[in-house]
Amino acid sequence: MALGSVIIGSGMALPAQVVTNDELGQIVDTTDEWIVPRTGIHTRHIAEHETATDLGAAAALRALGVQEGGWLREGAIDPATIDMVICPTLTPEAHFPSEAALIRERIGAVNAVCFDMSCACSGCVYGTSTADMLLAASAADRASAEAAGRTPRRNVLRRILVVATERLSRLVDWTDRSTCILFGDGAGAVVMEWREDEEGMLASYMENTDDTDHVLWCDSAFCARATPFSPAREDCDPYMRMAGQAVFKFATSAMVRSIETALERAGVTAADIALFAPHQANERIIRYAAKKMGQPVERFQMSIGHTGNVSGASALIALNEALTEGKLQRGDLACMAGFGGGLTAGACVFRI
Ligand code: UT7
Repeated sequence: MALGSVIIGSGMALPAQVVTNDELGQIVDTTDEWIVPRTGIHTRHIAEHETATDLGAAAALRALGVQEGGWLREGAIDPATIDMVICPTLTPEAHFPSEAALIRERIGAVNAVCFDMSCACSGCVYGTSTADMLLAASAADRASAEAAGRTPRRNVLRRILVVATERLSRLVDWTDRSTCILFGDGAGAVVMEWREDEEGMLASYMENTDDTDHVLWCDSAFCARATPFSPAREDCDPYMRMAGQAVFKFATSAMVRSIETALERAGVTAADIALFAPHQANERIIRYAAKKMGQPVERFQMSIGHTGNVSGASALIALNEALTEGKLQRGDLACMAGFGGGLTAGACVFRI
């Protein structure tokens, strides 16, 4: 019997302001000629007034069909039927409440429990894979409760909203040309529902590697604060820092390893996948992965050209663009992949 977590809605949101490479060239020593061939990025959206909550709520409302512009598998989804909101983010508006709780309030997900995830650019995969595992665990709990004629022992989860939202422009050091050209702001969301008669997510894979050399790092802003009883941490650096070439090397191997492991777990091959929605860190990383797996690059969704790197939201944005552009049909297999700070990486395979 097929059963699994099915994506029943998808949405995204980008801030209104678009920043070109030439505009960045007026802030730091860079050019469009340097940025495009090395990254594939032409423009990115940088929030002027939109908060991470504004962007996350807009993406979520589109995924629910409350606002137009998203992708719905069957029909609009009542926010009150969402049992949980998971928000992968590096840039929450507050330490608490969680970003997920702030989004819950905005969208009227009045029955949802909420929490954030800190897993950097793997948020798309960690978020959806965790949602899938929790939905499966809840289904098993309900089944055993029903068999024993008792009530479930855990929270009942049938629908989970995964909404990744980022205002990375606030983590970036705008004097550092090696990072500030890469990132953008935005949000992506999916609603996942447990079904007893459909496959949904076939398999997932997540991994962590120690970042002993600090190749991808950002201290939190509060480590620079002294208290009456303790000094500020002198080496605190609350800006994003990246050793580009080391991360590039990690990214290429981690992405291919993650996709191949998830495919193997799902019992399918790369040729069976109608569309890959990878993390959008660098067009060259995506092209490398396609070549290494012997797959045509046309089957890898590219949104980086107009979004830049939106961390955990970027693969959800890529997936949303593929869905709204009609590139994925009911029954198609798709694969999302992510990698980033932590160091985290992972991939998941699911049937649309
Ligand atoms: O989502 C998180 C994961 N992040 C990633 O996956 C990013 C992975 N890394 C990359 O995508 C690439 O390493 C970058 C796009 C960040 C950099 O490309 P690169 O080809 O590795 O450049 P590089 O760091 O080796 O720098 C080459 C040169 C240096 O100059 P010198 O020392 O050779 O004179 C840099 O100072 O390019 C210089 N440079 C720039 N020049 C113009 C670095 N950034 C810029 C810039 N404009 N924006």
